[in-house]
Amino acid sequence: MRAAGVTEFGGAEALRILDVPAEPLGPGEVRLRVAAATVNPTDTHARAGAYADRDPVKTPPWVPGMDVAGVVAELGDGVDHLAVGDEVMGVVVPTGAHGGYREDLVLPGDSVVRAPKGADAVAASTLPMNALTARFALDLMALGRGQVLAVTGAAGAFGGYVVQLAKADGLTVVADAAEADEDLVRTLGADVVVRRGDDVAARIREQFPDGVDGLADGSVQDALVLPAVRDGGAVATVRGYRGDGQRGLRVFPTLVRRVAQDRAALDRLRQQADDGVLTLRVARTFPAEQAADAHRLIERGGVRGRLVLTF
Ligand SMILES: NC(=O)c1ccc[n+]([C@@H]2O[C@H](COP(=O)([O-])OP(=O)(O)OC[C@H]3O[C@@H](n4cnc5c(N)ncnc54)[C@H](OP(=O)(O)O)[C@@H]3O)[C@@H](O)[C@H]2O)c1
Repeated sequence: MRAAGVTEFGGAEALRILDVPAEPLGPGEVRLRVAAATVNPTDTHARAGAYADRDPVKTPPWVPGMDVAGVVAELGDGVDHLAVGDEVMGVVVPTGAHGGYREDLVLPGDSVVRAPKGADAVAASTLPMNALTARFALDLMALGRGQVLAVTGAAGAFGGYVVQLAKADGLTVVADAAEADEDLVRTLGADVVVRRGDDVAARIREQFPDGVDGLADGSVQDALVLPAVRDGGAVATVRGYRGDGQRGLRVFPTLVRRVAQDRAALDRLRQQADDGVLTLRVARTFPAEQAADAHRLIERGGVRGRLVLTF
């Protein structure tokens, strides 16, 4: 079975096509014939070995990739929400050779749901992992209708979904953008757009002098963004930052792997894509053989929409 991964951690050039065994299928699991796998920032860290210590699998190869779309090839006992041949999307928690960049993939059934209507595999693959993370971040912060949420990295995949889901939840959204991304971020639904940068917290405070009720930090600016939030407000972080313990801020490190089997949430996200609440954004596709080029591109920054590998 073809996969794109590494046998030694390294730069983008370490990625190559590998021959991996088909994964065994157990009860409650689904075998996918993967057609599309997204390239997320975390994949570049995985490829470089940043997670080697916490991955219990110490033998190569390592296959990155956290969301996929394709067709159901086989169902394990007890999976009754899908049928063979269904077009689906799924969230992957990678470990060792088990990652999204492979044509044969077995996932827990509850990590797989039908793809949005009319979305091909490439478009569908861009939804599950980042939208589920965005949903989880919002659920952790638990703001009420009419409260104000700030979103940094709003032009990105995670940030964009936070903006759209927050608007659907009835929140007021202030989002950051580079000048070139302002229209994009407004189109996603932001009520107020401020210029991105190290001083983004001051710019948010200019608009909301009492501070915002919550903030989702998709740009991973950590301590720099905290001053935007009112005393006692909520902050969702996506790379483990736990805050500075000041002003009663409630900081929620948000890890998608904790909700990767929340099928009801994934189904709601599919429905919201069907309804046009969520926009599937594809930047460019690459055949899996060119995974290294996709990694170089995402590492340079400035990609809007997701890069997708096709199998
Ligand atoms: N913990 C989890 O479970 C989880 C799940 C999903 C995502 N994440 C993490 O969330 C982060 C965002 O992911 P993503 O897929 O949304 O990435 P993305 O699509 O690249 O979006 C990040 C956005 O932030 C901007 N940005 C980066 N550095 C910035 C800075 N210093 N100041 C202002 N803006 C900055 C980027 O702009 P440029 O492109 O111009 O740099 C981009 O618009 C990543 O670190 C990812 O690993 C974590």
